[in-house]
Amino acid sequence: MTTLITGGAGYIGSITSRLIRSTGRAVVVLDTLENGHRKAVGDAPFVQGDIADTELVERVCREHQVDEVVHFAAYKAVGESMENPAKYFQNNVTGSQKLFDALSRVGVNRVVFSSTAGIYGTPEVVPVTEQAEPRCESVYAETKLMIEKTLQWYSRTTNMRHVSLRYFNAAGAATDGTLGEDWRFSQNLIPHVMKAVMGASPALTVFGNDFPTPDGTGVRDYIHVEDLATAHVAALEYLRNNGDSVTCNVGTGFGTSVMEIIHATERVTGKNVPYTVAGRRAGDPAECYADTQRIQQLFGWSPTRSLDDIIASAFAWHSSHPLGHDS
Ligand SMILES: NC(=O)c1ccc[n+]([C@@H]2O[C@H](COP(=O)([O-])OP(=O)(O)OC[C@H]3O[C@@H](n4cnc5c(N)ncnc54)[C@H](O)[C@@H]3O)[C@@H](O)[C@H]2O)c1
Repeated sequence: MTTLITGGAGYIGSITSRLIRSTGRAVVVLDTLENGHRKAVGDAPFVQGDIADTELVERVCREHQVDEVVHFAAYKAVGESMENPAKYFQNNVTGSQKLFDALSRVGVNRVVFSSTAGIYGTPEVVPVTEQAEPRCESVYAETKLMIEKTLQWYSRTTNMRHVSLRYFNAAGAATDGTLGEDWRFSQNLIPHVMKAVMGASPALTVFGNDFPTPDGTGVRDYIHVEDLATAHVAALEYLRNNGDSVTCNVGTGFGTSVMEIIHATERVTGKNVPYTVAGRRAGDPAECYADTQRIQQLFGWSPTRSLDDIIASAFAWHSSHPLGHDS
């Protein structure tokens, strides 16, 4: 039997796909390649196409004997989602609904879904638990919450079971240096720090140094992309063992400030990180990091990579791939 991986040509999907294959499972990757790269798929079976193409999804499931899905395919740029909400509702929400509909028709009943800690917005309490009231501050986050809810209704009304994984800040690259994020399109902090330390940008902009945090800069939970990948393997295993539908945070459980990232980068790379300070961005919480008790208890999962591992792997990847997989 085969694991269908939607969005498997992207950053997290490609690294997870490779890990799932290494466990002995067959996979098939479905990706439009709009924001992914054919090279990232390697020699895994690949179909270029859209999750909203229900006929294609049904055919791929039948031909590859798919019995479970990891659903990464989505748009993820928060700023763009505020400028063009229709694009996000259409691709993320309508696309996912069509995907789940097609999966139901062919009897594929196990889904692991890429959700986001963004649905917590500015949490009242940290570490934030899965019970915290969602407070989406972007269209992007709202689309993820809508997909979580869609899956919850499928669980109540059909045989479909799911794990929604609320990722905190995915970071780093594959340890062997072959897969990673394309910094030309990334909005994330670590690729911006890497550009600054390698001289590919004049300086890093630090948005706000007057937050109520120990050093005044924003605090987030950075989770190594390979740890994130192992969480998907654990979630698939949980569903195969008849686990009930559940939503889980995936993070390290502790927060790291922007200044701590800068200092760690200087220590790991031996180079100076030039930076300037600008005002806070609207909607940026002071602190957001995960309570990870649920995922630890249910799946026995916990991360094993350190912040230094994140920085070392990102530095190696971006040094050798300044144009992502086009390098
Ligand atoms: N990167 C993060 O920090 C982060 C944090 C939280 C959640 N997520 C979620 O994790 C998932 C993967 O993120 P990523 O960083 O790997 O993003 P990515 O953009 O690198 O990968 C997404 C992939 O999905 C593909 N895709 C988009 N729409 C599609 C469609 N309709 N049909 C088929 N393929 C489609 C893209 O071509 C791309 O290859 C996304 O759903 C994202 O929202 C990411």
